Amino acid sequence: LVLVVDFGAQYAQLIARRVREAKVYSEIVPHSMPIEEMLARQPKAIILSGGPQSVYAEGAPRVDSALFDSGVAAFGICYGFQAMAQTLGGDVRRTGLREFGRTPVTVSDAGKLLAGVPADLNVWMSHGDAVHAAPAGFAVLAASEGAPVAAFEDVDRRLAGVQWHPEVLHSQAGQAVLEHFLYDIAGCVGDWTTTNVVDEQVELIRQQVGDKQVLCALSGGVDSAVAAALVSRAIGDQLTCVYVDHGLQRTGESDQIEKDFVAVTGTRLEVVDAEDQFLGALAGVTDPEQKRKIVGREFIRTFEATARKLDAERHIEFLVQGTLYPDVVESGGGAGASNIKSHHNVGGLPDDLEFSLIEPLRTLFKDEVRELGVALGLPRSLVYRHPFPGPGLSIRIIGEVTRERLDILRAADLIARTELTAAGLDDEIWQFPIVLLADVRSVGVQGDGRTYGHPVVLRPVTSEDAMTADWARLPYEVLERISTRITNEVDEINRVTLDITSKPPGTIEWE
Ligand code: XMP
Repeated sequence: LVLVVDFGAQYAQLIARRVREAKVYSEIVPHSMPIEEMLARQPKAIILSGGPQSVYAEGAPRVDSALFDSGVAAFGICYGFQAMAQTLGGDVRRTGLREFGRTPVTVSDAGKLLAGVPADLNVWMSHGDAVHAAPAGFAVLAASEGAPVAAFEDVDRRLAGVQWHPEVLHSQAGQAVLEHFLYDIAGCVGDWTTTNVVDEQVELIRQQVGDKQVLCALSGGVDSAVAAALVSRAIGDQLTCVYVDHGLQRTGESDQIEKDFVAVTGTRLEVVDAEDQFLGALAGVTDPEQKRKIVGREFIRTFEATARKLDAERHIEFLVQGTLYPDVVESGGGAGASNIKSHHNVGGLPDDLEFSLIEPLRTLFKDEVRELGVALGLPRSLVYRHPFPGPGLSIRIIGEVTRERLDILRAADLIARTELTAAGLDDEIWQFPIVLLADVRSVGVQGDGRTYGHPVVLRPVTSEDAMTADWARLPYEVLERISTRITNEVDEINRVTLDITSKPPGTIEWE
């Protein structure tokens, strides 16, 4: 175990991921955690992350010197590097020369930390203060214009640090530097893999559940499917999955659950056909937020009713949730509490149905969840599928949602997705919504006659995390095939348009 101490910037998660990429398990802890508590977890090493503050600013988080006396290996990054220097008696000052972004660094003495990396490195920096003199016992390894001491190490005490951010991709040899620290200075062994995770979680789930019954809501998304597959591997038919078919799915999506999930895992699946209920509740509604609220509300109602029914048949004590590590870290959780008793509404369930939670993915990042899914035998088509919003196609019909409009959109959507896959572009595109402008009509001509149909909008985007996105430059030939096929094959559509707006200012979805 490696602990990454979070000093309050966005970097801690990235560092934890990079450590795991080096096949060493890591977790994030807040800087407010007392050092004794960190040491009690018996980490092989502790990494101090970057942070937004200056080490000598009032109220800036400090590092307890007990950490460096404990004998546990430690690595400081940016703020963590300066904090280490300051605590151990080095000289940290404002340089007058701030460095942001790509910065050249000259390696004077590679030591263990920078062994084999180029003598002239381009790295990602973000600092106003700098270390001017390393603490006693440290060898200075590198310098930049604004950072007289840009890297140091004390191999005997197993301490090291760098001023730059080795965890970001723009830093040359970043992963190599991290691995030198982990393997060559801290003595970690890179043997953590997703297969270990499966074995470990299966064991944990068996212990937690015993012979009790477990329920899981499948959304059709990756997280719930992988969580359920893991639990299914652990306890087999003590697990029941519920899939609420709200009628707002794309063509084939509900079948995919049967084909890709049930067939592979053998899980008992309860499919609830709630199309009439959802469409009834959505009738006459055009406001996007209203649609979202209604779908959310109806989902909880349906799931609740099903949970009650199943609970009457076999008393259910546990509920599986596909919570991921970023959610845990962001809600201030962190230190691996995996059995939270939920006395209050879990996902909106009523108080008198009381479940304990099983969250087998709560220590994993999204890419690790995907690897786990593959390791569990789930097909790539499920594990690497594009994100699809919970409210489904209801927020891709601009205007009222009706069964007829859903059918039109489904037909157009299927054509677009099929052509994207045929062109081999699925992995390059983050998401490819098709939007039906149901209240707009335009004049066209087809065959010998005038048409008065609806437009659809193609919205292919690239993105890394959906927070920002760019419109995807799909090849003209692919766009042409999609356009021709949609107007030929879907009667009600006589115009196909392309959305070339990035996010911001647009969003990915139209509603
Ligand atoms: P926007 O449109 O805000 O979407 O750029 C960002 C990402 O979130 C998805 N999305 C939703 N997912 N419920 C969901 O589960 C929603 O109400 C919802 N709205 C948007 C969207 O598909 C994209 O991946």
